[in-house]
Amino acid sequence: MKNFKILAVLIVFVGFTYWGIEPYAHHVFHPKAPPVDFAFSDLYPTLDKDGVEAERNRIKGLIANADIAVGTATYRDLCAPCHIMENTGIVMSAQDLITTYGLLPPDLSNATSIYDEVFLFEAIKDFSSAALIAPHTARQNALLPTEAEALIEAHPNMTQEEAQETANQKVQKAVTSYAEKIQANFTTMTPYVYAFTEEQIASILGFLKSQAKPIAEIDAKSIAVNACARCHSFKYDKVALQASVDRLKPYLGVDAPPPDLSMMIRSKGADYLNTFINNPQKHLLGTAMPRVGLSKEAQEKVVEYIDQIGDPKKGERGRMGVVFVIYFLLLSVLAYMWKHNEFEEIGK
Ligand code: HEC
Ligand code: HEC
Repeated sequence: MKNFKILAVLIVFVGFTYWGIEPYAHHVFHPKAPPVDFAFSDLYPTLDKDGVEAERNRIKGLIANADIAVGTATYRDLCAPCHIMENTGIVMSAQDLITTYGLLPPDLSNATSIYDEVFLFEAIKDFSSAALIAPHTARQNALLPTEAEALIEAHPNMTQEEAQETANQKVQKAVTSYAEKIQANFTTMTPYVYAFTEEQIASILGFLKSQAKPIAEIDAKSIAVNACARCHSFKYDKVALQASVDRLKPYLGVDAPPPDLSMMIRSKGADYLNTFINNPQKHLLGTAMPRVGLSKEAQEKVVEYIDQIGDPKKGERGRMGVVFVIYFLLLSVLAYMWKHNEFEEIGK
């Protein structure tokens, strides 16, 4: 009986430390991050929760009923020049795209599964606002040479200065009309100021959706590469940066290239990563990292992937833990039986 009392006291103390003190200390040292919002409610500042839900359903309805033939044609005309879409045979050399744009525009084969479709709708309407990136003159300047080169290629008679001047005007015009229309933001996605109607955007997304694999069939690594590798490497998993560092820095307006993500889980933890990816501005106000708009399922897979490459022995450790606990339980039973036996002998 006395043994059980000692055991009970031990359990109470260990339990108190494990479930009481440790989580409290953790809570104090790592305050809980603000909740992640996979409805991207901030895109609709005037709407309450139900309003956002209704708006999302309206947009999903537009996409579900979109004219896919129109979407296919629009996509081939306006998006295919920059975006690989492997599953429909739109394949280009990634290296050429990086040379042209400085970074690799994502393959859009499974875009509507990887990214939230309502987020994509808003991003095609106004990329910078959806991505939460500030207007950035450095981005415009980084783009100008490309624009000028493209002009010279299209008009062989044009001189370098004329091309530069026209490119300047084109970019300026895009920025100003954008500024008037929306919010004076500018990224690689916006020198082509489309001014699409909602139906046109929905038709493009309807087309993308008709081609996309369900999220359950897409492996975590390809999601991470699609969403992150144009700015980040995952060196420990041999994923190289899909950009030219020299052009990426001025494009993002940063002095150092974005960090390698291999060991990020150890320095930041899963909670931080979850809120940060969902809305980088919540943790680093003014950061150049865009919100990419991952869906909930896709983001879970990305964080799991980062966890796996940063801490590949975690599963093994967990399994060994269970084996040890069973081992010690058995040992305790045997020890108890042995002691019981010994005492009986003494008693005789
Ligand atoms: C001039 C080249 C260019 C054209 C044309 C273009 N894109 Fe992009 N797109 C890019 C680049 C570059 C990025 C990456 C931008 C970044 O991360 O800053 C991108 C990013 C995207 C993304 C990812 C957004 C996210 O959540 O991170 C989507 C979706 C997308 N484009 C869709 C489209 C669609 C649809 C069209 C046609 C209407 C289109 N793009 C036309 C270059 C282009
Ligand atoms: C268009 C470029 C771009 C894309 C795409 C991008 N990032 Fe970033 N990321 C950055 C930049 C720039 C920084 C540096 C931010 C800073 O210090 O302000 C950064 C920083 C980070 C950090 C470090 C945050 C910190 O607190 O120091 C993490 C983690 C991160 N990114 C994760 C991701 C993940 C995961 C993805 C894909 C889902 C991704 N990023 C996609 C540009 C990008």
